[in-house]
Amino acid sequence: MEFQKRSFFSLLPVIASILLFFLKFSLKTAPSGCSLLHDNHYWISSKRIVTQDGVISGAVEIKDGKVFSLVKEEDWHGYIRKGQIVDFGEAVVMPGLIDVHAHLDDPGREEWEGFPSGTRAAAAGGITTLIDMPLNSEPSTISEETLKLKINAAKNRIFVDVGFWGGLVPDNALNATALERFLRAGVLGLKSFMCPSGINDFPMTNITHIKEGLSVLAKFKRPLLVHAEVQQDFADKSVKDDKKDARLYSTYLETRPPSMEEAAIRNLLTVSENTRAGGPAEGAHLHIVHLSDAQSSLNLLKNAKARGDSISIETCPHYLSFSADEIPDGDTRFKCAPPIRDAENKEKLWEALRGGDIDMLSSDHSPALPDLKLLQQGDFLKAWGGISSLQYVLPATWTSGRKYGVTFEQIASWWSEKPAKLAGLPLKGSIAVGNYADIVAWEPETDFDLDQNHPSYFKHPSISAYVGRKLSGKVLATFVRGNLVYKEGKHAPAACGNRLLAK
Ligand SMILES: *[C@@H]1O[C@H](CO)[C@@H](O)[C@H](O)[C@H]1NC(C)=O
Ligand SMILES: *[C@@H]1O[C@H](CO)[C@@H](O)[C@H](O)[C@H]1NC(C)=O
Ligand SMILES: [Zn+2]
Repeated sequence: MEFQKRSFFSLLPVIASILLFFLKFSLKTAPSGCSLLHDNHYWISSKRIVTQDGVISGAVEIKDGKVFSLVKEEDWHGYIRKGQIVDFGEAVVMPGLIDVHAHLDDPGREEWEGFPSGTRAAAAGGITTLIDMPLNSEPSTISEETLKLKINAAKNRIFVDVGFWGGLVPDNALNATALERFLRAGVLGLKSFMCPSGINDFPMTNITHIKEGLSVLAKFKRPLLVHAEVQQDFADKSVKDDKKDARLYSTYLETRPPSMEEAAIRNLLTVSENTRAGGPAEGAHLHIVHLSDAQSSLNLLKNAKARGDSISIETCPHYLSFSADEIPDGDTRFKCAPPIRDAENKEKLWEALRGGDIDMLSSDHSPALPDLKLLQQGDFLKAWGGISSLQYVLPATWTSGRKYGVTFEQIASWWSEKPAKLAGLPLKGSIAVGNYADIVAWEPETDFDLDQNHPSYFKHPSISAYVGRKLSGKVLATFVRGNLVYKEGKHAPAACGNRLLAK
């Protein structure tokens, strides 16, 4: 007895250290499925870190998923004593991109995209948060009940953080009870169409619906995103009457002239004044998605903003990268709505973006089955509209933007800071102490050929309008809340993105 007792006690330290080892091991590896790193306290260092106070050389201290401190290189000697340093050398370390306009089509149309492939592509492209559109999933997200389906579909299947816009449709727009329930369930804001969306359970809204929607949104201080185009009879007729060649991009362009955007915006501006300080819908905000017309439509919006209406404007890299004259006959990969316009318009869009009249960028990643997109014998009128680009928006923005002398701070503003504000995400959008450690490291000077061999993680890369281009800017690594979710062709094994619900 005596002997056994003593031996048990003498073994205690051994047992304890074995237990401690396993405890330590499990603590260390518990989050490892979520991250390609094991530590949750480490530093990211680089010569070019984009902060709110400019680009610095130094390190970002990450602890428990948040930015714990920012250290300039001249101050860090003796400061960083322990922990791991992930050194990115000359690569740019920037806040992760927030894509406020992506269609992941989940649940219901997973053969088009889906949360797993879509968010893997996002991670590989430096996008750390995306806000999913209420269409083209099936059903569309237009009520508390259908939002629940979306939230369940995203569970354990997202590699980056994902929030959800809800649909404003005639069915719910005039029913404040339904809208309030929907907003309380967590949608970050609402989205509506002023022309047919192409999706049966997502009908278009008229200005009465929009006005009513804004008054409910005002109580929640959330935005209404609007697809601002209205149908005009003459456009359809002119194409039919002339029997124009549907394989020509110009034929498609004529069906959606800038006047469609302009007319929609004129109509919207009859209610946008409600969002002004002291107005009946103060607190609500109007956000124009994917503006393409850089002339009358943009001028109208500029004036309304100057008057104090709460309005913001987004455009997409494809409107800044391509122009109508370079779209080959029958190449329906470039079909989207509103359409890509001429080279002069593209220049004007860049001018407006750089000058601050356009506030932010989004992908409008809008995938479809290749059959719907391509196999229509190049018929621009029959092919499905929408451009697939999710993984490539950062290099696409940089490739054209560098010619205009665009800075990394501007890119961070268009892709992170302003989008965070629109979506109501206060701890995102910049590398600042206390914010989530949502970070992308990328090499602006590295070019790559986006050919069929390039590893694309979204579902149907062949339909992307960017395939065949040479792009500048290679994403090296992406961190979401401190988890290294992507590094040079490798993703973290587990999908640990958060579902972002408004409270
Ligand atoms: C409004 O929506 C609520 C909740 O979804 C529903 O119960 C009610 O029947 C709707 N009212 C009308 C008039 O459609
Ligand atoms: C919009 O549609 C609703 C029916 O859903 C109708 O009551 C309203 O009058 C319409 N508004 C306009 C401006 O056409
Ligand atoms: Zn869209």
